[in-house]
Amino acid sequence: MYNFIQKFHSGWAYLALLVLVIAVINSLIGMFSKKEFTAKDRKIAILALIAIHTQLLIGLILYFVSPLGLASLGQMSDKALRLTSLEHPLINIIGIALITIGWTKHKKLLTSESKFKTFSIFYGLGLLLILSRIPWSMWL
Ligand code: HEM
Repeated sequence: MYNFIQKFHSGWAYLALLVLVIAVINSLIGMFSKKEFTAKDRKIAILALIAIHTQLLIGLILYFVSPLGLASLGQMSDKALRLTSLEHPLINIIGIALITIGWTKHKKLLTSESKFKTFSIFYGLGLLLILSRIPWSMWL
């Protein structure tokens, strides 16, 4: 069970981050080139939302079955364990919350410019937070 969830969380992360990076770049291009917000732009944004929420779900399960998750929460003096048991989950949940807020906000906006701007800010900040707390040395 642990091995499967760990591999799934590790592998899905490539896809989730790739789609999120594409969504951020797409919204920045849309914002700076003052394009019209189309169904294609909405599709890219919702794919990123779904991919990152799937990553969150797998992460939540992993947290309870991994020896590096909840089981290591008491060991704050160990940098690597502090990252996987506290900083990575906490900061990533905040990042995913920002992405979700961005998606919710865009639905109420009327202009293309404001939609692209909202995605650029919320998805962009979410991506930066997530990238700041990936256990890179374990992953790549
Ligand atoms: C966008 C969100 C996330 C991304 C991109 C992500 C990505 C990753 C990556 C790349 C690793 C290293 C995997 C490896 O060793 O090969 C990892 C480890 C881990 N992640 Fe996440 N993660 C995310 C969210 C979460 C969340 C929300 C939780 C918990 C609530 C979580 C819990 C963990 C745990 C416990 C580990 C250590 C697993 C182990 O090796 O036993 N992750 N994550």
